Amino acid sequence: MNEPAATVRANLEAALADAIERVKAAASLADLEEAQVRTLGRKAPLSRARSSLRDVPDEHRKELGRLANGVHAAIEDAIARKREQFEAAEVARRWELERLDVTLPGDAPPVGSVHPLTRTVQELVDIFIGLGYRVYEGPEIELSTYNFDALRTPLEHPSRSPSDTFYIEGRGDEVCLRPQTSPVQIRTMETQDPPVYGVMPGRVYRRDAQDATHLAGFTQLEGLAVDEGITMGDLKGTLVHFARAVFGTTLAVRLRPHFFPFTEPSAELDVQCFVCRGSGAGCRVCKGEGWIEVLGCGMVHPHLLEWVGWDPERLTGFAFGMGIERIAALANGIPDIRYLWENDLRILRHFRGVA
Ligand code: DAH
Repeated sequence: MNEPAATVRANLEAALADAIERVKAAASLADLEEAQVRTLGRKAPLSRARSSLRDVPDEHRKELGRLANGVHAAIEDAIARKREQFEAAEVARRWELERLDVTLPGDAPPVGSVHPLTRTVQELVDIFIGLGYRVYEGPEIELSTYNFDALRTPLEHPSRSPSDTFYIEGRGDEVCLRPQTSPVQIRTMETQDPPVYGVMPGRVYRRDAQDATHLAGFTQLEGLAVDEGITMGDLKGTLVHFARAVFGTTLAVRLRPHFFPFTEPSAELDVQCFVCRGSGAGCRVCKGEGWIEVLGCGMVHPHLLEWVGWDPERLTGFAFGMGIERIAALANGIPDIRYLWENDLRILRHFRGVA
């Protein structure tokens, strides 16, 4: 082998040895990038040795050319293997860093619960849905016509006074915050043909001083059944079924005569006190009465049917209305209905999960 050929061969071998050394020494991907430039780049020993191939006589050039290609491939291969090592190490590091033990208990998100008042509405409504009733709703801002006139409430009735009912400013006594859900009876009958079997839950407003049993805004559930041949026996049977579903079968129930402008005859439904069981003696829950007033009710006055254009000769009906906070308080042993409207999470926690 002549002199230039021997030099090129020596340079190629030196370039390979140097490259292997640099690749081996690389401690990071950045080091490896640098080693790649220095061993395969334009100014690298391999590149220079290749350039000098043109000084080599023909008979050696082919063999040395192949050797140069082999060196290039070997360096590339060494770099690729080293890169794989770094990448594998990086993957291992990420696995370790992002390790997730799916068997650990984890942080439970706070779980909400249905408010005891909402749950009471749902339970009461469900009882009537079970009897085939439908649910209707009406506006909280109501026309006095619907709330008073249609319900046969005379102009001089105390509930019409601005000291009892909130009126919307600028509209005289024409528009009010409804003090009862009873106007929804009229709205329901207006929008459909008889018969109707409906319950109407919703918020009502009264100009009352707040105490343990009164709120200026509270919730009522209205009921209305109008059909051919409805009697007071149907009213009593329905309400006794309702009272048993809510208060149990062991407490007595009674209808006591009362007055409402929109029913005739009218009554109030009492349930025997669940604390003193009717004895009354010194009982704080029923205040010695032995009975707890649950709702107002009666037979729908013909005036209401005529108001909506229904024939009172053919149709009769009954209606009832109750305050839901009162029932929620009685059913859950809550001593003060204001608890149901204060934003105190303790009451929600206390009643969480109670069906
Ligand atoms: N609206 C009455 C009130 O708020 C309750 C009531 C009594 C509703 C008798 C009725 C009923 O439907 O028939 O005090």
